[in-house]
Amino acid sequence: MEIFNSIANPFCSFFILGLLLLFANAVSLANATTHNHDFVVQATPVKRLCKTHSTITVNGQYPGPTLEVNDGDTLVVNVVNKARYNVTIHWHGIRQMRTAWADGPEFITQCPIRPGGSYTYRFTIQGQEGTLWWHAHSSWLRATVYGALIIHPKEGSSYPFAKPTRETPLLLGEWWDANPIDVIREALRTGATPNVSDAYTINGQPGDFYNCSSNDTVIVPVDSGETNLLRIINSALNQQLFFTIANHKLTVVGADASTLNPSPPQSSCWDLVRPQMF
Ligand SMILES: *[C@@H]1O[C@H](CO)[C@@H](O)[C@H](O)[C@H]1NC(C)=O
Ligand SMILES: *[C@@H]1O[C@H](CO)[C@@H](O)[C@H](O)[C@H]1NC(C)=O
Ligand SMILES: *[C@@H]1O[C@H](CO)[C@@H](O)[C@H](O)[C@H]1NC(C)=O
Ligand SMILES: *[C@@H]1O[C@H](CO)[C@@H](O)[C@H](O)[C@H]1NC(C)=O
Ligand SMILES: *[C@@H]1O[C@H](CO)[C@@H](O)[C@H](O)[C@H]1NC(C)=O
Repeated sequence: MEIFNSIANPFCSFFILGLLLLFANAVSLANATTHNHDFVVQATPVKRLCKTHSTITVNGQYPGPTLEVNDGDTLVVNVVNKARYNVTIHWHGIRQMRTAWADGPEFITQCPIRPGGSYTYRFTIQGQEGTLWWHAHSSWLRATVYGALIIHPKEGSSYPFAKPTRETPLLLGEWWDANPIDVIREALRTGATPNVSDAYTINGQPGDFYNCSSNDTVIVPVDSGETNLLRIINSALNQQLFFTIANHKLTVVGADASTLNPSPPQSSCWDLVRPQMF
C-alpha cells in the first residue's frame, strides 16, 4: 500500500514524466551536431575590375565562408570585428526559435559589434532545409560580407527528389569600384539614389564582359546527362536579378529553405526579386 501510494504521488508522476521527456529529447537530439565557427571581419585587399580595394570580408574571403549544416544542428559563430566599422551578422531566412538575439539586425535585436569587439551567435536550425545565406546587417557592409548557408536534410533522411550528381552554390552579387560604405553615405548625405554598382558578380567574380576578368570567371564543370543542384542566392543589394542557363531547362525544387513540389522543367528566366534562395 505504501509503495502504491508513492507511485500515485503527483510529484513522482512528474518525475517519471520528466525522465521520459529527457529520454525522448536525448533520442531526437542524438545525431544533431554543433558547428563552431570563427568569423573574423577584417579589411582584405580584393582586386576586381583592374583595381584593388581594401574590402571588408569574413576571414579574408570574398564571398565569405560557406556554412553547411543538417536540419536540427546548432550553429555557434563567434564574430570578431577587426574592421573599422560596426558590424552585425544576419542569418537570412533562419527561423530563430527562442533565439531572437541571434538574428542580427543592428539596433533591432542587438547593438552592433564595435571595432575590436566580438559577439557569439548561437542558434538551432529546426524544420528547415535548402539554401539560405548570411550577411552583414550594418550599413552597406553586406555588399561584401556575405556567404551561403546550406541546410542539408536531417541526418538519415534524404531530399524528396533524385540525388543530384553535384551541388553548386551560386551567389549573385554586385561590386562597386568604390568603398560601398562611401556609396551609401554619399547617398544619405545628398538625398540622391546610391550609385549603381559597377559589375554583377557570380561567387564574387565579374564575368567575361568586364575588364580584367579573364581569370575571374566562375566555371562549374558538368558532364552531359547528369543532374545538378544549383543553390542560387540573390545577394545583390539593390537589383532585381534574373537567372537562366542558355539552352537548358531548370526545375525548381525548393525556395527559402523549404522544398517545393518540383515545377515542370522550364527554360524561362527565374526572377529573383528579393534576396531569394532556390
Ligand atoms: C556602433 O555601435 C555602438 C554600440 O554597439 C553604438 O553606440 C554606435 O552608435 C555605433 N556607431 C554607428 C556609427 O552606428
Ligand atoms: C545516428 O548516428 C548513428 C551512428 O553514427 C547511426 O548509426 C544512426 O543511423 C544515426 N541515426 C540517424 C537517424 O541518422
Ligand atoms: C558616384 O558616382 C559619381 C559619378 O560617377 C562619382 O563622381 C562619385 O565619386 C561616386 N561616388 C562614390 C562614393 O563612389
Ligand atoms: C574597359 O576599359 C576600357 C578602357 O579603360 C573602357 O573604355 C571600357 O569602358 C571598360 N569596359 C567596361 C565594361 O568597364
Ligand atoms: C591568369 O592566371 C595565370 C595563372 O595564375 C597567370 O599566369 C596569368 O598572368 C593571369 N592572367 C591575367 C590576365 O591576370
